[in-house]
Amino acid sequence: MRHLRTMDDVTDKEIFQLIEEALELQQGKSWKATEQKFVANLFYESSTRTKCSFEMAERKLGLSVLPFEVSTSSVNKGESLYDTARTLEALGVKALVIRHPEDEFFLQLSSLNLAIINGGDGCGNHPTQSLLDLMTIYQEYGKFDGVQITIIGDIRHSRVARSNRAVLTRLGATVTFVAPPEWRDFSYDDEAYITMDEAINTSDVIMLLRIQHERHEAKNKSIERYHQQYGLTIEREKQMKTNSIIMHPAPINRGVEIATELVECQRSRIFKQMENGLYMRMAVLKRALSNHEGGVFDDNSTEEWKMA
Ligand code: CP
Repeated sequence: MRHLRTMDDVTDKEIFQLIEEALELQQGKSWKATEQKFVANLFYESSTRTKCSFEMAERKLGLSVLPFEVSTSSVNKGESLYDTARTLEALGVKALVIRHPEDEFFLQLSSLNLAIINGGDGCGNHPTQSLLDLMTIYQEYGKFDGVQITIIGDIRHSRVARSNRAVLTRLGATVTFVAPPEWRDFSYDDEAYITMDEAINTSDVIMLLRIQHERHEAKNKSIERYHQQYGLTIEREKQMKTNSIIMHPAPINRGVEIATELVECQRSRIFKQMENGLYMRMAVLKRALSNHEGGVFDDNSTEEWKMA
């Protein structure tokens, strides 16, 4: 893996290696850059989790994070994504983490000699969200084969749904959807869609999605009606299978896709997903930079961790 643009950039073997490395990092393993390496985070869309966890991951790995805010950059003077990325490459930046509203923005950057890590492209892909979701599911079930996952909500505009459906199916999980008719993605078969009752009664993982208002032309949904029809209500949570879990990539619209009282309930892994995101992003950065640059990181773990 030299880039992480979509989940097609990682083999099944690499996915399991990344999960193992992220779990080790979570347990106390430490990797540090052996020389100064600059990275930059280019967020053309809003973000809290992805941006902050990448920046923390970079600092924990001893990387030099170049401050870059789209709002105060020459993007405001009309500079293109390619010219911005080419400029940073010319300065010596070795990896770019990019979130951009354009689907597959990374195709225009294929000639650049630095690692491209996709922090979310339009309605296309969100590969590090998929990897942290895989880590969370793996921590729970120790496998993917046979695990039943239902993704609920705004499937059509969700890069999380697209990335997760592809990779989870590849790894042997069964992925179904629940969505209002206008938010279905018709590239999936009709059989992929089930009812809310079926989802609640059969799923090991209920994965809820935020309504992506910013990608809708019309805002015509009643929040209360949506919550009753497609939200995880307190009554529905009681009907879930004994050991099933709740996931959500966040940000959360409390009281819309999930009742406020359930956000931190015993089944919820929502904040665990966020914690896992830090360690998974460290593992992704380490692998991408090492594959571009050779031996960039040293094991900097404490003796206690090495002995454990
Ligand atoms: N899950 C996710 O991508 O959150 P942010 O938009 O806050 O990065």
